[in-house]
Amino acid sequence: MKKILFLGLFFTVIGGIVFLSILAQANVQKINPFNSNSLKQPFPFNHKIHNESGLECENCHLFVFTRTDPGIPRLEICLECHEGNTAPPFDILEKYSSNGGQIPWIRLYKLPRHVYFSHKRHAAIGKIACKTCHGDIGEKELPLDKPIMATLNMDTCMDCHEQRKVSNDCSACHR
Ligand code: HEC
Ligand code: HEC
Ligand code: HEC
Ligand code: HEC
Ligand code: HEC
Repeated sequence: MKKILFLGLFFTVIGGIVFLSILAQANVQKINPFNSNSLKQPFPFNHKIHNESGLECENCHLFVFTRTDPGIPRLEICLECHEGNTAPPFDILEKYSSNGGQIPWIRLYKLPRHVYFSHKRHAAIGKIACKTCHGDIGEKELPLDKPIMATLNMDTCMDCHEQRKVSNDCSACHR
């Protein structure tokens, strides 16, 4: 009897672990850029036209010099310039805003959770240009459908750190 109970418990636990890991797998595949072949943004945002109109990256990615995460601009920022323009392609902004929503941008660059990365440290304190890591996204007329993988790669981080004599202790990046 004891043995049967024990076996029952054993298989429940194993079943639970298998089930949870299947769940985790499904989740990871959805959000992990390492596994995505192609992302389609909800709206064909044009970086180039905004760049050429004299906007700086930090006018939209507001926190790039002050926080770890630069942020993707909220719809309110777009509407500061485009409010009231109902002709295509601007009508889509009106549509999102009259539904009280945001444009559901898909994040292109996302490190695993165990890695710490700060834009303030790199872009403001280290004075590293966006281009060094993000290439010419500012000159693109359409959203990228893939991240530049080197940007998210441990070897690339460590190569630059070695050149710049920055810490390559595991605990600097994994905290
Ligand atoms: C007018 C606002 C605006 C300006 C100015 C702007 N961006 Fe963006 N940026 C966006 C929006 C909206 C997205 C999300 C859609 C996309 O991926 O194209 C985005 C996405 C990005 C991403 C991908 C983020 C991610 O992980 O999903 C990077 C990197 C980026 N921008 C860099 C830059 C750089 C570098 C500049 C300056 C040369 C710049 N942006 C200027 C609005 C802007
Ligand atoms: C040293 C490399 C590096 C530099 C320089 C850099 N980035 Fe990034 N960027 C990254 C990495 C790595 C991520 C993913 C970060 C994460 O997941 O925590 C990222 C993510 C982003 C995102 C998406 C994050 C979000 O909050 O949604 C935007 C937007 C972005 N960067 C814009 C910029 C802009 C604008 C500049 C220049 C002012 C810049 N980055 C400079 C490496 C860099
Ligand atoms: C500081 C002002 C400013 C902000 C903020 C701004 N834009 Fe623009 N946008 C412009 C200018 C200038 C143009 C080019 C002239 C025009 O077409 O009106 C433009 C053009 C556009 C166009 C037409 C270009 C095309 O692809 O055909 C769209 C769509 C657009 N912006 C969407 C957005 C979105 C989405 C945001 C927020 C993420 C945004 N804009 C934020 C100033 C701005
Ligand atoms: C192009 C060069 C370059 C790349 C690529 C780069 N870094 Fe850095 N990193 C720097 C520099 C320079 C500093 C020091 C900035 C300062 O404080 O002056 C730094 C500092 C850091 C620090 C703080 C270190 C400490 O001593 O506490 C961390 C954490 C970090 N980087 C993580 C990363 C991660 C994670 C990546 C890859 C996703 C990365 N870096 C990619 C140049 C780079
Ligand atoms: C400069 C930043 C940086 C340093 C220093 C660093 N890592 Fe990483 N590490 C990363 C980044 C970014 C990733 C995620 C991308 C990847 O897997 O290449 C990562 C991923 C990993 C992973 C997960 C790999 C996988 O396949 O999922 C392990 C394990 C790891 N690092 C161990 C270490 C150990 C051990 C050290 C010290 C010898 C170390 N890291 C030092 C940035 C760093």
